[in-house]
Amino acid sequence: MDATVITQQEDLANLRNVPKSPRCSTSENLLNLNIKEHYEIIKELGRGTYGKVVLGRCKETGTQVALKVLPKTNVKLREFQREFDLSYFLSPHSNIVDTYNVAFETKSSFVFAQEFAPVGDLFDKITPQQGMSEKDAKCVIRQIASALDFMHSKKLVHRDIKPENVLIFDHEFSKVKLMDFGMTRKDGTVIRKVNGSIPYTPPEICEAVRNESITVSTSCDIWAFGVLLFCMLTGNFPWENADISDVYYNEFTLWQRRKSTKLPSQWKKFTPRLMRLFRKILDPKGERRCEIKEICKYLNDSWIQPCKNSDNEEEDMASGSDHMDELSNILQNHGIETHMDKACARTQNIGMVTVIIAYIIILHYSLFPFHLINSHKLYTNRKMLT
Ligand SMILES: Nc1ncnc2c1ncn2[C@@H]1O[C@H](COP(=O)(O)OP(=O)(O)O)[C@@H](O)[C@H]1O
Ligand SMILES: [Mg+2]
Repeated sequence: MDATVITQQEDLANLRNVPKSPRCSTSENLLNLNIKEHYEIIKELGRGTYGKVVLGRCKETGTQVALKVLPKTNVKLREFQREFDLSYFLSPHSNIVDTYNVAFETKSSFVFAQEFAPVGDLFDKITPQQGMSEKDAKCVIRQIASALDFMHSKKLVHRDIKPENVLIFDHEFSKVKLMDFGMTRKDGTVIRKVNGSIPYTPPEICEAVRNESITVSTSCDIWAFGVLLFCMLTGNFPWENADISDVYYNEFTLWQRRKSTKLPSQWKKFTPRLMRLFRKILDPKGERRCEIKEICKYLNDSWIQPCKNSDNEEEDMASGSDHMDELSNILQNHGIETHMDKACARTQNIGMVTVIIAYIIILHYSLFPFHLINSHKLYTNRKMLT
């Protein structure tokens, strides 16, 4: 055999041994690779319901990436492709995590690469039973609202809004991104209920039984967004389940539907203006819930009552205007028509209004003596949230 033939054979053999780069593998052309040949695995970043995310350094480029590793035992190829394709499609938005055009499979898992968020997820930034500062919460909310508005404009529903799915890039919260599109579906898709309920699940999904058909709607994200906002500002969940058997939920719904004037104690730290927004977001009827754009109208308002203690068991001290709304509602519910000039009433009739409110409160509690004591539960365990 002459020398040139030997060299060609060696070249061919070498070529076969050279591992192909993950950077030339996409979901349509999924290469089977060994993860450790291409990435130095630095640490585990987190775990979710279906898989784990690790920090890896690409040996070819030196870049650090977050690799989402989904075991084939938990996720089918079609499901993996859907999550990867949606994540990649949504990437251009500045508040959605960047997904690189890199996807491959190993013997046991499907893998794709995303940008690495050095500060981690929002869950760890919410101090239990305390929450975050109003300023930081607004900063995060503004960015998540923008990401959700973008998704909803594309008729996509995230379906898993919670702090674990929000990534933080700096300690000032100036760069915050939404991620985890594993549950994302097109608005209007009919699916079967498979998962149990978590505190972020809207009432219409909570009440569906396992395997019942449910229609995916952007209003589900609005609800979860409202619960997320409450968690961020208090460090607690408003309830365990959005079901009337849950006393905290039931008490809130009575207030939300104006069946009761009593604002449950865990909501009393918020201003009437924020409560107005909560009333629109956390409407038990999905079709009546506001759209994500509505939230932006409230970002310049004050959200937390200046010197009010959340443990205060006094009656709600909402503004005169809100009391008027409540009062007129109650009177109307009792068949009494009211045509009040709010501005005039505020200045001239405060005394009389206070007497009427006191009378109604006494009447209310004599009719409904069961007062719910709000010893609010604290969840410090991340697993309880998922
Ligand atoms: N790009 C990333 N940078 C830093 N941490 C991440 C990143 N992606 C995910 N994580 C961490 O891993 C956890 C699980 O990731 P996620 O994609 O939500 O998986 P699952 O679909 O299983 O819930 C997240 O809650 C977060 O703590
Ligand atoms: Mg997740």
